[in-house]
Amino acid sequence: MHPPELVQDRAMQKLLIVEDDQSVRTTMVTCLELEGYSVEAVSSTHEALDRLEKQSYPIVISDIYLDERTGIDVLRTARRQNPDCAVILMTGRGSMETVMAATEGGAFEYLAKPFEMAHMIDTIKRAEKSLDVAADDEAPAIDDIPDTEMVGSSPKMVEIYKTISLVAPTDATVLIEGETGTGKELIARMIHRNSRRAAQPFVPVDCGSIAPSLLESELFGTLKGAYTGADRDRMGVFEAAAGGTVFLDEIGDIDLGFQLKLLRFLQEREVRPLGSSRPKKVDVRVVAATNKDVQKLVDEGKFREDLWYRLNVVRLTVPPLCERPSDIPLLVHYFLKRYNERYKFETKLIDSGLKAMEEYSWPGNIRQLQHMVERLAILAPGGRIDGDAVRAAIEQMDSRDSSSETLADTEAEQIRRVLAATNGNKSRAAKILGIERKTLYRKLEKMGL
Ligand SMILES: Nc1ncnc2c1ncn2[C@@H]1O[C@H](COP(=O)(O)OP(=O)(O)OP(=O)(O)O)[C@@H](O)[C@H]1O
Ligand SMILES: [Mg+2]
Repeated sequence: MHPPELVQDRAMQKLLIVEDDQSVRTTMVTCLELEGYSVEAVSSTHEALDRLEKQSYPIVISDIYLDERTGIDVLRTARRQNPDCAVILMTGRGSMETVMAATEGGAFEYLAKPFEMAHMIDTIKRAEKSLDVAADDEAPAIDDIPDTEMVGSSPKMVEIYKTISLVAPTDATVLIEGETGTGKELIARMIHRNSRRAAQPFVPVDCGSIAPSLLESELFGTLKGAYTGADRDRMGVFEAAAGGTVFLDEIGDIDLGFQLKLLRFLQEREVRPLGSSRPKKVDVRVVAATNKDVQKLVDEGKFREDLWYRLNVVRLTVPPLCERPSDIPLLVHYFLKRYNERYKFETKLIDSGLKAMEEYSWPGNIRQLQHMVERLAILAPGGRIDGDAVRAAIEQMDSRDSSSETLADTEAEQIRRVLAATNGNKSRAAKILGIERKTLYRKLEKMGL
């Protein structure tokens, strides 16, 4: 295509913008007109669907949360009218479900607000290019959209949702990297649940906590008589998970000797149980996770480079919570709602409480935040989580290991409350109280319970 033609095309290229926020709409129209596009802008799904009935647009840009209908409805209508239509969705409230629905509906791109106009223009240019190329790379369909379990709308989380939705339907090996508590296992489960393997098992294996000598039989299985004490055949995880997904957690902890065997498995997809001479084909997908810098282990000669490449087909790096503080309010509300429901409480979150949580750095990431909200939902004085309650809880969490026995005098009442909330489950209660289970037993004894 010659450049003049392209310019001419663009002059005729009509973009439809659907955005209810007037200032965003005006900014977009102005910027895009300056870029030489001819733009039509509407502020409701009603008007959008109306236009789409009358005319086909090559590119539609729509907000997601609009009125009683959403940008997903706009997406569906636009693509029904014109299957080649490139739809760019944008939202400040992205979620796993909206990204999934967008992917499923064949959205061209999904932009988290706020975005730079330059980024929007780049996206439109890419969309134009894709219109020139035959539009045959359909987004993979996903059948079962799960209930919300992952929350977070920060651009970084939206990137993660996108990767999940693209990679889930494939059989690609995925490596998930991230600090402790960032949600690696949850992501692995999401990948499984949105894959064709969803009805088959998802089996997590914590490679870090299984003795190296046992890992092989755990994964590959053992035949009766393979060693003294092997009194029956034991199926390995890879075989037990047939058709499903095996989640190899803490992959960086696998010892060098076993790494070669794992590599062979990933290449051949065959298991040979201990004591057997016949390999068996198994169909499993492998998702691995690590909170270590495996590249560094590779450089130090502690991790095989070839295995690293094998695992690293798709790499997903989960950012620590401190790099996406905008997700904190959403997560806190989400967990609080969950615990209020579970414990039948009506604990309220006060502004100062949220602020204190936003100011904390969360070295234990989402898991730490979740535990803290659970604790506060149960223990916050007067059923109100305010700044003081949060700071006190943070202090206690920080010093948990060193001073596990310094609960205040009101502790007996706290303990009763927590036990009631956990239906007498003492390990859960100990966790929420931030003390060892043994300590809790001792205290209960003292309390005469
Ligand atoms: N985006 C999220 N939305 C809601 N809950 C989340 C999210 N991410 C993680 N969680 C919750 O936080 C907890 C920790 O997540 P998960 O076990 O997946 O972390 P991890 O990265 O595997 O941690 P580790 O490295 O310590 O094993 C879980 O209870 C999980 O459900
Ligand atoms: Mg984990």
